[in-house]
Amino acid sequence: MAKLDPHSYYDDSQPKITSFKLKAKIDFDAKKLFCQVALNFEKEVEGTIKLDSRDLIIKSVTYEDGSNVNFKVYPKDKVLGNLFEINFDRLTKTILVEYEVEKDSTALQWLKPEQTKGKQKPFLFTQCQPHHARSLVPLQDSPSVRITYLAEITVPSDLTVVMAAGASDVFENREKGEKTFFFKMPQPIPPYLFAFAVGRLTSRDLSQRTKIWAEPEIVEKAAYEFEEIEEMIKKAESLFGPYEWERYDLLVLPPSFPYGGMENPRLTFITPTLIAGDRSLVSVVIHELAHSWTGNLVTNKNAQHFWINEGFTVWAERRILEAIYGVEASVMSYAQGFNALKSAISRFGEDSPFTCLVTNLENVDPDDVFSEIPYEKGSLFLRLLEETVSRTSFDRFIRSYIEKYRFTSIDTEELCSFIEAHFPDVLKKVSAEKWLYSPGIPDNCPKIFSSRLEFIMNLSSGFKFGTYPTNEEIVSMNPGEKLVYFQNLPRPLNSEQLDFLVSSFNLKEVTNSEILAEYLTISAMSDYEPAFSQIKSFLSEVGRMKYIRPIYRAMGHNKRTRELARELFEKTKETLHPLSRAVIQQEIEKYEKD
Ligand code: BES
Ligand code: ZN
Repeated sequence: MAKLDPHSYYDDSQPKITSFKLKAKIDFDAKKLFCQVALNFEKEVEGTIKLDSRDLIIKSVTYEDGSNVNFKVYPKDKVLGNLFEINFDRLTKTILVEYEVEKDSTALQWLKPEQTKGKQKPFLFTQCQPHHARSLVPLQDSPSVRITYLAEITVPSDLTVVMAAGASDVFENREKGEKTFFFKMPQPIPPYLFAFAVGRLTSRDLSQRTKIWAEPEIVEKAAYEFEEIEEMIKKAESLFGPYEWERYDLLVLPPSFPYGGMENPRLTFITPTLIAGDRSLVSVVIHELAHSWTGNLVTNKNAQHFWINEGFTVWAERRILEAIYGVEASVMSYAQGFNALKSAISRFGEDSPFTCLVTNLENVDPDDVFSEIPYEKGSLFLRLLEETVSRTSFDRFIRSYIEKYRFTSIDTEELCSFIEAHFPDVLKKVSAEKWLYSPGIPDNCPKIFSSRLEFIMNLSSGFKFGTYPTNEEIVSMNPGEKLVYFQNLPRPLNSEQLDFLVSSFNLKEVTNSEILAEYLTISAMSDYEPAFSQIKSFLSEVGRMKYIRPIYRAMGHNKRTRELARELFEKTKETLHPLSRAVIQQEIEKYEKD
């Protein structure tokens, strides 16, 4: 018996669940889900099976003929949740579980109407990565297992259900005022890609295989922002092979969504903060789209090899970016990423084992150690391999990698033997051991530069000597360049310096949320009062951890901003996503006591 995943009770002596059929009724008043699921095993099982669960009230477990099966739900482990043990006294391939999903399920966020654009109806969405699928369905919640599923979801008839699956039918029960939405997911997915959302939603077609879902108030703006999606898919297909998931739809969530995007198959979830009005933040959609190959087709075996999902995807994202928008766009994206990498490393400490690409996460909650390191260090490692073997050879390699491992899950060792078979000795040549298993940034890290990037960096470093960019220079910068400029500014700044930035970059009206969040972070750290009202409104609305965490952290630097932070957190904590709430709580607890 071998345990394949430190975050699941699954081990390889147990038969796998290969499919399930879920019926769920959603009760918005009680904030509960009433569910029945049929779990189908790959072969007949007997004896004991260990499933993952969390926040579920298991009512009954039965065989297909309705007779009871013995089971036990163990007390909650902080990281793994509740072990759900089932004891069979006869052979079976299928079992039925009746259960309720509790109000505080870590996979869900229940939104009040006020938290939506239209402010008329409640909203519900799921977020299962990395280990929250078990807080919705009892199963083997490890990416080393893949499942297909059928789902029937019943909601009040004025709401719409969308799911990361194929939609097959809708049935309305007028008497009960309910609608049931039917879905089918024929491609086998790791459980963390299970996803749905419920709300007042409408859609606009973008191409034959893509549409955008959003609240009616923003669907047109969203359709404009992401109109180029079909072109992106075609470009990605030309690099990585055919798109295997039939449809690629997007769902714009309310602003409390804790991530920028989530690559739920067939239906990427995105934050509305990407809608800048000028398409300047489409790279997040490109990233989620790229996961359709790297991550969703070839999946990390467990969270210790998360870089296989994210490092490959960032690398792929920047290749698509380069192909569509030119090499300068990818250079700027690497520069933004490198800044993020440096701050993540200094947060953990240069020698921290969490700065390695392969991590040991025994007894560690993957949500607690989430960072840009697997993304950025991972993409730089792949970039180094690409530069070493030549782009043409590496592109051929990537295609055969995807072809060979599609719909499977792999770990770093398996990947390394595949690389070694293709490019003998290359791992040694690039010091792969160091990249994978040592902390920090290795000496042979690729330097991705351009004269334009150098120019932007020089503008930033000039700032501390009082050299401000001219109006002409500012006008010449695109949003990505402005972001790099802001990221590299010294901090804290005095109010005269900040006044200059506000007026010359028009920061009171900036619609690019990356630039806005960077400006608010600098302002918070600098105790810059004119930004406080913008900080208030941003933190009252937005739940995207990438933005709110640095702003709250920066607010820890001054007494006045600490007070503001505590006040804002008190006001918003009830409505924040449970994950964002936990993260901000930690930041505030680290503050000096006033
Ligand atoms: N899969 C991730 C989001 C994620 C990771 C959720 C781990 C839960 C646990 C997604 O693809 C992602 O990386 N999103 C980024 C955007 C990207 C451009 C780096 C984000 O949300 O900021
Ligand atoms: Zn990603």
